Amino acid sequence: MISRLTKTVPDYPQPGISFKDLTPVFADGPALHALVQALVEPFAGQFDAVAGVEARGFLLAAAAAYATGTGVITVRKAGKLPREVYREEYVLEYGRAALELHKGDVPAGSRVLILDDVLATGGTLSAAAKLFERAGVHVAGFGVVLELGELRGRAALAGHRVRSLMRL
Ligand code: PRP
Ligand code: MG
Repeated sequence: MISRLTKTVPDYPQPGISFKDLTPVFADGPALHALVQALVEPFAGQFDAVAGVEARGFLLAAAAAYATGTGVITVRKAGKLPREVYREEYVLEYGRAALELHKGDVPAGSRVLILDDVLATGGTLSAAAKLFERAGVHVAGFGVVLELGELRGRAALAGHRVRSLMRL
């Protein structure tokens, strides 16, 4: 169902890049429900909150947190959070960026499941994990809808459990 609904956009955002657009997957009620269930199922009972990485990870994290009766934690792009933050710089597929996490939003010693739409190089999720580790929070694992295997993101997340629903 996920692969049937995914749309491929050639030469976006740069010539030579074949972009996988998941917005039609999220727009489909049964697909969204099924994928959220599939992302949380391997980690049942192993997390106290779900974190989403801005922007597209927010969709999944909010849905998964609601479905499991847990809270949602926002990992944001730099400069968006008003209080004191942890900050981690990372290399993205198309440039450099930084992610931030509010200090104190998630208690030390708790366990977080981190969700995002796509695992490409793994720079984004690796930076997200470092934020939680600095906060003393255990990373229960990662869940993504789409894993771009040739970019070797799974290797960047070595030591963590990664659930991906579609691998290209
Ligand atoms: C995209 C995607 C993942 C990330 C994966 O986010 O949503 O978060 O890239 O790439 P990586 O594994 O190489 O780090 P992006 O920051 O481009 O945009 P978004 O704000 O729309 O989520
Ligand atoms: Mg993203």
